[in-house]
Amino acid sequence: MAGQVHRTTHGPVALLEIDNPPVNATSQAIRRALQDALMRAEADPEIEAIVIAARGKTFVAGGDISEFGRKPLEPHLPDVINRVEESAKPVVVAWHGTALGGGCEIGLAAHRRIMARDARVGLPEVKLGLLPGTGGTQRLPRLVGLPAALDLIATGRMVDAREALAIGLCDLVAGDDLVGEAIALAMSLGGKLQPRLSLRPPPAPDAGAWEAMVARVRAQARGRIAPLKAIDLVAHAAGMPFAQALRIERQTFLELTASEQSKALRHLFFAERDVRRVAGIEGARALPVRAVGIVGAGTMGAGIAMAFLDSGYAVTVIEREEAALRAGAERIESLLQRAAKGGRIDAAGLAERRARLTLATELARLAPCDLVIECVFEDMALKQELLGALESILRPEAILATNTSYLDIEAMADGLARPQRFLGLHFFSPAHVMKLMEIVRTRRVSADALATGLAVARDLGKIAVTTGVCEGFIGNRILARFRAECEFMLEEGAMPAEIDAAMEAFGLAMGPFAVQDLAGLDIAWVRRKRHAATRDPAERDVPIVDRLCERGWFGQKAGRGWYRYAEGKRVRDPDVEALVRDHAASTGRRPVPLPAEAIQARVLAAMVNEGAKLLGEGIAARPLDIDVVLVHGYGFPAWRGGPMHEADSRGLAAVLATARENARRDGRGFEVAPLLEELAASGRNFASLNQREPMSQP
Ligand code: COA
Repeated sequence: MAGQVHRTTHGPVALLEIDNPPVNATSQAIRRALQDALMRAEADPEIEAIVIAARGKTFVAGGDISEFGRKPLEPHLPDVINRVEESAKPVVVAWHGTALGGGCEIGLAAHRRIMARDARVGLPEVKLGLLPGTGGTQRLPRLVGLPAALDLIATGRMVDAREALAIGLCDLVAGDDLVGEAIALAMSLGGKLQPRLSLRPPPAPDAGAWEAMVARVRAQARGRIAPLKAIDLVAHAAGMPFAQALRIERQTFLELTASEQSKALRHLFFAERDVRRVAGIEGARALPVRAVGIVGAGTMGAGIAMAFLDSGYAVTVIEREEAALRAGAERIESLLQRAAKGGRIDAAGLAERRARLTLATELARLAPCDLVIECVFEDMALKQELLGALESILRPEAILATNTSYLDIEAMADGLARPQRFLGLHFFSPAHVMKLMEIVRTRRVSADALATGLAVARDLGKIAVTTGVCEGFIGNRILARFRAECEFMLEEGAMPAEIDAAMEAFGLAMGPFAVQDLAGLDIAWVRRKRHAATRDPAERDVPIVDRLCERGWFGQKAGRGWYRYAEGKRVRDPDVEALVRDHAASTGRRPVPLPAEAIQARVLAAMVNEGAKLLGEGIAARPLDIDVVLVHGYGFPAWRGGPMHEADSRGLAAVLATARENARRDGRGFEVAPLLEELAASGRNFASLNQREPMSQP
């Protein structure tokens, strides 16, 4: 990224426009150009005031993340930003698009801030495991008070113009002509030296509000270090000279830049964008999609319908029976109502979404659709019949998709006349909330159809990862090994609560047994029973879950499962623990102590080993695809960057050693992946397989 700063003169005002596509990051070239332009404007006797704005779709969206972790190059951003504040001529900043990180901090150093109506501003560094490093933690509290500043810095959330004005983060919200109004504002200051924010003490803190905010930040940190450091830094704004606090802020920023957590989060930032780059779709044309059909209005179908309604599509939902259609309509309506009640959509949005929704029982109503997704019961014969019927109704160029989680998509494609227009769109439940989607690429799908899937996913605001066909695709296949490994440990002396505690300490929001209780054990039980006849007898299998289900202990909804539930609280269940102990004894294994680190290492090795198999089989294109799936679909802690990144940072030799122990103990299905052996033997890591370039995006 190079970039430049354009200067134009408007009467006594110098307008400096930052120009560094795509997001005007403050790369070294921009820092230098801005510093030079400021100095020249200050020295220019014709100039009384300065406006800093930016060209393109956004004001500065922060530092150049790809420069982080390298040696910082001069001029440093803090020097440029101090120059803004110390300017003898008033400086007005005009924010449009997303003024983030350094973009927000330039504004904090300026003497006035004006914002476009649809702009947003924030300090999102914490999301990259960092904190503002150029005065943000000291100037923001002086402007909006300590609790509000801590809120913004520790959550990294963006605020819109209305909120920014209300809390005092901006002085003015512009009408249609942001830059023109910024110039007018600059002129109105009459060239007079303006007070500096750094010299102003922060508003006296309200102790109660501050303590409450600190408690909230601590509770939400869950293993992340940056939000905790934010508490100290923001507190310094009240009790320490500005210059001293600024030095500590800078020091903290540099330390965090070097931290494993920040490296992991930066890896994820680029991975979330790289998953859009997919091999083999060069030159493909995505079909424009406006009308979407959904067959099956169960929980999944209703969630998918809601996701499309939220993104402006015309949606037709089909259930063949009247009663099922009514139930589906109620499901969608309740999602709409909830969104309205929660303030996510207003009355007009609600009415407008309802108007875009059609409910019907005849498949023929789907004829005008550009894309149809089937979400009916997971039954191969049922789906094949339905897909065949849909194909005869749809236009030849329309795209047909299945939302199956486990069934063989190639077998579904076999029965189709146009398999090239067919693919898997695997949503995660609840589909209107979960960010992740797996796009399942069948052998025969065309590049255009794939590009359409990717484009639609992006339009829905989803992070879509492309996967090949296998049972469970990327996410559920790894989940199966993860769960199996956890159940094996039950046979070796660990209790569900101990495994859950270890995995929660690892950073999962909820341990695997608690998650099963939440989802309900009965669905998995039905599948277990269905697979019982065909299960490989050589595969290690832990039947404890059968014992729970036979007793009707189906999880939270039944009041007990792996745990007991009373008044919404989860407690260990001595009956379950006795079952676990009895079963473990019946296997003849001697119980061994399993400390949390051993549990975590075994689970990680099981996931990484399966991930390496997915890579070896070409199901997952790159390790980063796996990382994105596990973080966004399965609650893997983002600050560990995903399992493959975590394996790299622990060192593949250690992970391989544990994978070998797993293989020796667990047998079939846990054989060490050849790719893992190969990488470890050659001293390479998974990151070496994450190429950026030869891929393209629709
Ligand atoms: N440094 C370097 N590259 C950046 C960047 C940054 N701060 N912010 C965005 N980019 C790149 C992205 O990698 C992407 O590159 P690609 O097209 O080659 O994949 C491109 O800019 C567009 O970003 P994208 O996120 O796809 O666009 P968007 O319109 O969806 O979102 C932002 C724009 C600015 C909201 C979003 O990119 C963002 O949140 N950026 C990070 C902001 C941040 O954390 N700043 C503080 C840094 S200290």
